[in-house]
This record gives sequence, C-alpha cells and structure tokens, in this order.
Amino acid sequence: MNPLNPFAEPARVVAVALNPALDQTIEIAGLQPGAVNRALRMQVDVGGKAVNVASCLSDFGVNAAVAGQLGRDNAALFEELFQRKKIANHCCYLDGLTRVNTKLVDTVSGDTTDLNMPGPEFDPAAAADLLQQVLERLGRLVERTASWVVLSGSLPPGLPADVYATITARVQAAGVSVLLDTSGAPLKAALAAGPRIVKPNRHELAELLDRPLDSLEALIAAGRELLAGSLAPEWVVVSLGGDGALFLTREHAVQAQALRVAVTSTVGAGDAMVAGLVAARLEDLSLTETAQLATAFAAAKLTRLGPHLPRPAEVRALAGQVVVSAID
Ligand SMILES: Nc1ncnc2c1ncn2[C@@H]1O[C@H](COP(=O)(O)OP(=O)(O)OP(=O)(O)O)[C@@H](O)[C@H]1O
Ligand SMILES: [Mg+2]
Repeated sequence: MNPLNPFAEPARVVAVALNPALDQTIEIAGLQPGAVNRALRMQVDVGGKAVNVASCLSDFGVNAAVAGQLGRDNAALFEELFQRKKIANHCCYLDGLTRVNTKLVDTVSGDTTDLNMPGPEFDPAAAADLLQQVLERLGRLVERTASWVVLSGSLPPGLPADVYATITARVQAAGVSVLLDTSGAPLKAALAAGPRIVKPNRHELAELLDRPLDSLEALIAAGRELLAGSLAPEWVVVSLGGDGALFLTREHAVQAQALRVAVTSTVGAGDAMVAGLVAARLEDLSLTETAQLATAFAAAKLTRLGPHLPRPAEVRALAGQVVVSAID
C-alpha cells in the first residue's frame, strides 16, 4: 500500500516526474510589458508532462503511479489530484516549491506569453540521491504490478542528461517497457538505451537528427532511421500537431489524421497521446487501432483545459472516427 495515498490501486503504469510543475494562467486585457497590469482572472492547474500522462491514464481506467520529486511547500494541489484520481504517489518530497510556470493570456490580442521556470537546482550529491530513490521506488513498483514506465518531460538543472538512459536500462532489464517522450540531450542519451517506444514531435525529431524535416517524406525517413540499429525502439510515433501523427514499426507504417474537435487548449495534447499509446499497448492493439486510440486521447484532451479526459466510452467512440492510412 502506498502510505501517501491509501486509496490508490496497484499501478500498471508508472510516470516518472523529475520536473513537475504547476501551471498558472493569468488573463489580462491588453498586456503592457513594463507597466502595472491589472489582471482579470487567475487559475492554477497541476501540470508537468508525466503528471499529465498519469492523469489521462487514470481517467481511462488504467491504474497509474507517479514517481519523481515534489516541492514540499506547494505539494497540496498535486496530492489533491492524485487522491481524486486514485493515482499512487511515490514522489520524493524536497524542501521548497515545485516550479510554477506562468501563462499570460492577453484576452484582447489572443496571444499567450509563456514564462517557464527551469525547476529546482540539484548539486551532484542531491542529483545522485534523487536518482537512487526513484530507481528504488521504480524497482518496487515494477516487481509488483507495473509493466510500463513513462519517461516524459524536461530535467531540472543539475540532473545529468543521462538519467533517463539510466532508468531505461535499469527498468527494461527488469522486464518492463519504457516509453520515452523528451527532447534535446536527454532524448539523445536515452534513445541509446533502447526504450520500447519513443514519441518525438516534429521539432524534437528535427533537433535530434540535426536537420530540417519539412516534408512528410523527410519525417517518415527520419522515423525509420530511429527504427534501425540493434537497440532501436519497436515503435516510433512522430506527432505533428493539427496534422496528426505517424506511427512506425520496423514492419509497418501508418499515418493518423487528427480529429477536428473544438479546441479548448492544446497544452498537453502530446501527453494525452502518450497516455493513449500506453493504454493501447496494455490492450495489445494493432498498429492501426493504437494510432486511433492515441489520436482519440489527444483529441479528447483538446476539448478540456487541464490533463483530463471524458468517460472511456466517449474516448473509444472518438477512436472509431480516426482515419488511418497505410504508408508504403
Ligand atoms: N490543433 C489541433 N487539432 C487537432 N488535433 C491536434 C491539434 N494539436 C494537436 N493535436 C493532436 O494531438 C497530437 C499530439 O499533438 P502535438 O504533436 O502537438 O504534441 P506535442 O508537441 O508533443 O505536445 P505537448 O508536448 O505540448 O503536449 C497530434 O498528433 C494530434 O492528434
Ligand atoms: Mg510533447
């Protein structure tokens, strides 16, 4: 039993949240930099990619856990979400605040200005200690019921770029599968450790391969490049925002069109897609069905502000509407 959340069910998926965040959205009519601005409204949502993934999985009825770190001083909103969604909380509590990312929404121009914080600073000893604790917690969860570990999001300053690589190697050696969704140096390092699935978006893939990917052919070739080699992932999913996503295995490749839905917020669409990918793998769905379910998760999330999905039956109904075509 998880002492921090006695109502949580044994987790089938663990999302690793090394740099969670609270998202603060402030609405201002006509933002003026350098002046005193009177804001209209503020809302604070629990966020960070791994927490978003766990939240969407839980809404779909998949028991999830979060392992990582939280700042003690503003942990209450995370704890409330975890309790409400029966997500097992295996986070280490650190002194201070979890970072707060601010979105300034100008209701006149329609522009959003993002102010993203880096996260807490780790010295080498603290970084090693956090990694050790996360590995221990993952070890216990994997030994019991978890069969997937999701590594998503950025790393706070001071954590070495290879922490996702270390976690990938360790948990996959214990027989579970890793889905990786990050960018930059952590993506490059962890890919070399052979995660089962990787989900870059167009920009993350272009940055990884250090070349522009401005046509569908270039994107497909880039995805296939990731599938080559001995420790290559089994699945590569390249998400393309409103243009849908590519789903590639060594044998097959398909393209899924995005669903046309009334968009409330695009924040976390990729995280919902990651949750859908894992849900589909847990059900051992085909490539086409996986593309449909993952796209439906993303579309369902787009209609809501936070990392929340409608009832599973609604998500499955959306999946049936997703158009998937084979790529040769
Ligand atoms: N404007 C949109 N309209 C319809 N579907 C969208 C839109 N934006 C995103 N999606 C859906 O969400 C999926 C993932 O989106 P995207 O490629 O933007 O992920 P991402 O860049 O990883 O996002 P993030 O990391 O911010 O959550 C897309 O493949 C698509 O199915
Ligand atoms: Mg993303």
